[in-house]
Amino acid sequence: MTQPQTIAVLGAGTMGNGIAHVCARSGFNVLLCDLQQSFLGRGLATIENNLAREVSKEKLTKQQAQEARARITPTTDREALNICTLAIEAATEKFEVKSSLFRDLDRILPAEAILASNTSSISITKLAAQTSRPTQVIGMHFFNPVPVMPLVEVIRGLQTSQQTFDTIKSLAEALGKTPIAVNDAAGFVSNRVLMPLINEAIFAVMEGVATAEAVDQVFVLGMAHPMGPLTLADFIGLDVCLDIMRVLHDALGDPKYRPCPLLIRMVDAGWLGRKSGRGFYTYPT
Ligand code: 3HC
Repeated sequence: MTQPQTIAVLGAGTMGNGIAHVCARSGFNVLLCDLQQSFLGRGLATIENNLAREVSKEKLTKQQAQEARARITPTTDREALNICTLAIEAATEKFEVKSSLFRDLDRILPAEAILASNTSSISITKLAAQTSRPTQVIGMHFFNPVPVMPLVEVIRGLQTSQQTFDTIKSLAEALGKTPIAVNDAAGFVSNRVLMPLINEAIFAVMEGVATAEAVDQVFVLGMAHPMGPLTLADFIGLDVCLDIMRVLHDALGDPKYRPCPLLIRMVDAGWLGRKSGRGFYTYPT
């Protein structure tokens, strides 16, 4: 399978900077694109910190880290992505944002380019329909923290070609990840199962079954999860969890996917978890 020379990564937030990090660490050139210089600056600072952490853990040499950083070029100019034969989109988890981005990428990137989305729940088939190349659109769903988690869910839309699938599967392997193939359904496998668990844990807190700390301890001590579901919700972002629950509820129609009212209230209050300094727990900002 021919691997891309330069990969466009759209979005320098938590997932986008992690994806840029692993692509560069594996020897690919990356154009990291976001709307504002300040977003790019924050993303690059995170990448530099995480590369330094890998050097301190002796997973990379200082030179490998420097080379990886040098492979990442930040840009706010979408038109500059016209040299890329692969784009991985990691923008906000809203259909309107992603669909307009996909229309732009379809216009800008060469005809043979693959357009991949890191969406955690939005239909790949629907995103593909925004483009003139639906056979070259695919889901490439990474997990946070991207440099650490070995999984990539590879999601085929209704029209995704076998060639597109094979290219992305071998790219995921070249990034040191394990690709798992799933079909296009709301939340795929990961969030179809994880988010209702998190949502139910929030119901348990809201109904006074136990404190957030106690719920988390049950999962850490009883099921050997590395983080309890509420710590994990804070880590993922409560706004992201709510967006995904809404996608599941809308797409699957079953009341069991109703977002917990406490989750809605917390997001309304701006308590978004780790990134805002407060969620189920408080964090230094
Ligand atoms: N970059 C590079 N390395 C990192 C890192 C980062 N951002 N974050 C952590 N690490 C490394 C550490 O250096 C450490 O390396 P070592 O094993 O060589 O010492 C290792 O990862 C473990 O980190 P820590 O020792 O700092 O801390 P923990 O042992 O507590 O692990 C954790 C942290 C890896 C985040 C662990 O708690 C964990 O696995 N949590 C669950 C994460 C999870 O479930 N993620 C999926 C979320 S769902 C998702 O992303 C999908 C989306 O659609 C919602």
